Amino acid sequence: MVALDGPSGTGKTTVARKLAGRLSAGYLDTGAMYRVVTLAVLRAGVDPADGPAVAELARTTDFALGTDPSAPSVHLAGEDVAAEIRGAEVNHAVSPVSAVPEVRELLVARQRRIIGEVLDEIGGIVVEGRDIGTVVTPDAPLKVYLTADPAVRAARRSAQDTAAGRQSSQAEALASVDRRDRLDSTRAVAPLKAADDAVHLDTTELSIDQVLVALSELASQRGLLG
Ligand code: DC
Repeated sequence: MVALDGPSGTGKTTVARKLAGRLSAGYLDTGAMYRVVTLAVLRAGVDPADGPAVAELARTTDFALGTDPSAPSVHLAGEDVAAEIRGAEVNHAVSPVSAVPEVRELLVARQRRIIGEVLDEIGGIVVEGRDIGTVVTPDAPLKVYLTADPAVRAARRSAQDTAAGRQSSQAEALASVDRRDRLDSTRAVAPLKAADDAVHLDTTELSIDQVLVALSELASQRGLLG
């Protein structure tokens, strides 16, 4: 299994999926879990800052995540919400929701369950998030912490938004990425940080393919490839 952590806009999602494809492994996007719970919170009209109400809602949210890297899916009560969870409303509310300890407890338990099932079934999984190497699976054989310059991360996020048909300026993307990084890194429970034994990879000057080559080499060194 490969644990891939880091802030947004580092290319994490794209390389995690491609790496999983190369390794014939499953793929788990833990950020999508926090996003789908956030969407449920917003739809229910619950204040994302109201911890107890958010925790209660998270307990009863009926969602499902696919683990096929070529077609990751996200459903909320049977509805395909893959596009909606990437929108500006969810971007804005996801950090307070993911800072609620009960939400993390619930989702981490679910993540460990899915990881165990996929490992039993196909023998490998690439998991991306913020606390995978530190909290979810501290014994992962390969942990990578991706970073990149904030301006480059914002430009990537803005390009992704535009490609997905969402309006986004680079200045807005930078403000949004900055705010989320600050909130995610300073929260009390499982803040965004690298595990002590993670390999650091700065992707500022690297293409997706170059990142993929670097990760494949690391995976091969750890006996995870072929
Ligand atoms: O990876 P992403 O941008 O889709 O993640 C969305 C948010 O979810 C992120 O701002 C913080 C939270 N998150 C988290 O707290 N822990 C994780 N393992 C993954 C995401």
